Amino acid sequence: MKILVVGGGGREHALAWRLAQGGHTVVAAPGNPGIEQVARCVPIGVDAHEALAQLAVDEAVDLVVVGPEAPLVAGLADRIRARGVPTFGPGAAGAQLEGSKVYSKQFFARHRIPTAPFAIAHSLEEADAAIDRLFHGGVVVKADGLAAGKGVVVAATPDEARAAARDMLLARRFGDAGATVVVEQKIVGREVSVLALTDGTRLEVLPSVEDHKTIFDGDVGPNTGGMGTVSPSWVSDDLAYRIRHEILGPTLRGLAADGIDYRGVLYAGVMIDAAGAPYLLEYNCRFGDPETQPVMARLRGDLGSVLLGAAKGEMPVAALGWDARVAVCVVVAAAGYPSNPRTGDPITGLDTIDREVLAFHAGTARAADGTLVSSGGRVLGVTACGVSVDQARAKAYGAVDAIGLAGKQVRRDIGARGRRP
Ligand code: GLY
Repeated sequence: MKILVVGGGGREHALAWRLAQGGHTVVAAPGNPGIEQVARCVPIGVDAHEALAQLAVDEAVDLVVVGPEAPLVAGLADRIRARGVPTFGPGAAGAQLEGSKVYSKQFFARHRIPTAPFAIAHSLEEADAAIDRLFHGGVVVKADGLAAGKGVVVAATPDEARAAARDMLLARRFGDAGATVVVEQKIVGREVSVLALTDGTRLEVLPSVEDHKTIFDGDVGPNTGGMGTVSPSWVSDDLAYRIRHEILGPTLRGLAADGIDYRGVLYAGVMIDAAGAPYLLEYNCRFGDPETQPVMARLRGDLGSVLLGAAKGEMPVAALGWDARVAVCVVVAAAGYPSNPRTGDPITGLDTIDREVLAFHAGTARAADGTLVSSGGRVLGVTACGVSVDQARAKAYGAVDAIGLAGKQVRRDIGARGRRP
């Protein structure tokens, strides 16, 4: 098969690598220097929807896989499907699950999916009243629209929550994305990412993943897009069963009841509370980053045919297998990330790392002289499998330590939380 992967980050490198390993010919737009090792990269950006649709037609690809959320929310999958090319990724209607926090919370409530109590606020007065009502040791304020992963504030005090609401509603920190906010009760617990592939009627739930969101060890400091992941996570089979039957199943039925034909990834951010009950925090409408990296490292079977089946509404179920080992992904981030990442620093040592370790490129570029340099906040996702979490960690950190990047930031505790709920 010939497959077009849209995107140019670590998630797309992991997807392109796995698809190429499956014997498929991969074209990527725009891709990156890592993706270039497994695919032909075409310099078309993810916002150039007409050019991407035309590329899919001109290249006569069998399948398009759309990586990032912004083009999905803006309707790229609809546009490519309208040209007759099977596309893995929801249309604009389904992508609202990620594109609008108001839409998604109302969807959860309408379809009785367990989620934190919430209120929708269009004004400061409404936000303040909601914060007073919902604050129980913490409260979460979320901008309605896409905000590059920065639109969620977990406030420890009512004042902090009010400041966040002001920042969004009055100062318009996220522009129109913050013209409406969702205020929700904070659920205390341990979070897990559960990704499922779907063709609109069937679900293929992938092994769960635990992300590490803050920049510093010990879960402190500002939030990032994710500093590292471990898969499978600590989630038991019983809990995985509950997540499937209490969250993912009702979601799929809800989408169908609402007339939405959803073909792509349902990525559930799930909080497990102290009693072991799962609550849906949010949905993303695409593969997670860096969740995809360890999942692809462990995946066995033909991902391409499963994604094509999903795109066509005829997804084969239980067609994927999994390496019995654990995979750990450690993100190498740039100096200044997440607030002000420095770019243009040379990256060295990649040719010296253990051949079994996968260094997925996220924010890398070629300088004019061909040198590999950093070009974004998260630079590499260094991924290794091991018979235990400790072995996977040792392999991943061994490679991370061999990679040179001035001012690099790395969390040293990825996968070190243990397996207790
Ligand atoms: N790892 C978080 C995300 O993909 O949004």
